[in-house]
Amino acid sequence: MKIAVVGTGYVGLVSGSCFSEFGFNVTCVDKDPVKIQKINQGEIPIYEPGLAELISRNVNAGRLHFSTDLGPAVANADAVFISVGTPARRGNGHADLSFVYGAAEELAVHLKKYTVIITKSTVPVGTGRKVAEIVARVNPTAHFDMVSNPEFLREGAAISDFMRPDRVVVGAETDAARDAMRALYRPLFLIETPILFTNLETSELIKYASNAFLAVKISYINQMADLCEAVGADVHDVAKGMGLDKRIGNKFLHPGPGYGGSCFPKDTLALFKTAETYNTDVSIVSAVIDFNYDRKAKMADRVITAMGGSVIGTSIAILGLAFKPETDDMRDSPAIDIVTTLISAGAKLRVYDPKAMEEAKPLLPHGITFCKSATDCLNGVGAAVVVTEWNEFRALTPSQFAKEMVGNVLVDLRNVYEPSAMRDAGFHYVSIGRQ
Ligand SMILES: NC(=O)c1ccc[n+]([C@@H]2O[C@H](COP(=O)([O-])OP(=O)(O)OC[C@H]3O[C@@H](n4cnc5c(N)ncnc54)[C@H](O)[C@@H]3O)[C@@H](O)[C@H]2O)c1
Repeated sequence: MKIAVVGTGYVGLVSGSCFSEFGFNVTCVDKDPVKIQKINQGEIPIYEPGLAELISRNVNAGRLHFSTDLGPAVANADAVFISVGTPARRGNGHADLSFVYGAAEELAVHLKKYTVIITKSTVPVGTGRKVAEIVARVNPTAHFDMVSNPEFLREGAAISDFMRPDRVVVGAETDAARDAMRALYRPLFLIETPILFTNLETSELIKYASNAFLAVKISYINQMADLCEAVGADVHDVAKGMGLDKRIGNKFLHPGPGYGGSCFPKDTLALFKTAETYNTDVSIVSAVIDFNYDRKAKMADRVITAMGGSVIGTSIAILGLAFKPETDDMRDSPAIDIVTTLISAGAKLRVYDPKAMEEAKPLLPHGITFCKSATDCLNGVGAAVVVTEWNEFRALTPSQFAKEMVGNVLVDLRNVYEPSAMRDAGFHYVSIGRQ
């Protein structure tokens, strides 16, 4: 089978490369010529562990191609994945589907034979049927089936998530479409990955329901962390005690500065908007959206409080900018709120992230010092804030902090250090949900 992937961003690039690793002939198309030129020169536009090697292996094997030319890629394909962005629409929070509908219009004219068109982008309920209507209107003779196949990969572990997923969800409504999807995912079927077939609407909703549930779980433990601080409990022990219950599970019970990233913020909003459109109650989700928004905004206050109420003129190190480790993705990262608020409060910031510095620069206010390393970042500061739990920050010892810093305030928003070790070393150590 031949595959075309329309949209070579995070999801398109990873899934296209993984399908080529399965042995399929894949062409990833993007309308950004600079991106495609860079990839064709061996430069990978995102940081994702293992991706560069995967791409180079499959390009060299002649199975993976990158192009700006949609026509031949679609005309030759048996399956066309749409993996363009679906950001929140400015002002109202609905998913912006203009890229999805634009891609549908563009690809429709090139369909030459029976083709399965698959939305891999996260799209609200009803989008698949609208894409099918667009394709049929633009190309009334097109012979195609519409499929929804949401992607569940996590940045930072994207390749293993794609190659060994917990499940594959497929919304398909004809035998031909289901057969095509079985063929595409045969390597996963062979390792007994559950493949769930549903209708289009159910598949589309599973993705949002899953992401919103995870956002609820994160926010729940963050609220418990606040309560732990108030009552003198330890949130890690609370999370452990909860997580040992198999009905709850121990994943996504790590307290922190609030969720960010390219999915949870926009997907919770879009789910809320869908429910509003259909006049149903998802008040749990809307409470989480509001709570998380406030939480990210309030994290800088912890730093200001730890500094005794003012950070005017204080030099502060920010360790970590990406929304989580092992990615350079800065979309909706809590670091943006923290840095922006601390700068407005008069702090002088030194920042460092192992991978996200270039992505961060256009998103952060002026006047920040971008540093070469964690120790460079800590040099001469009065306070340090851990925002992203990269391993290289975990490895920093109390004496390394003490050697570089002039002050002794350490705000650890990811609970990566042992409180007693930091306190014994003379730090005023503030973490989340524990004493
Ligand atoms: N990033 C993740 O971790 C993740 C995980 C699961 C699902 N998703 C979903 O997958 C979708 C894509 O997300 P992403 O992070 O890969 O987005 P992205 O912004 O990184 O990439 C989208 C790409 O699509 C390209 N594009 C837009 N319109 C096009 C067109 N008409 N033809 C060709 N290319 C076009 C853009 O130039 C861009 O390179 C979103 O719906 C997202 O919610 C993302």
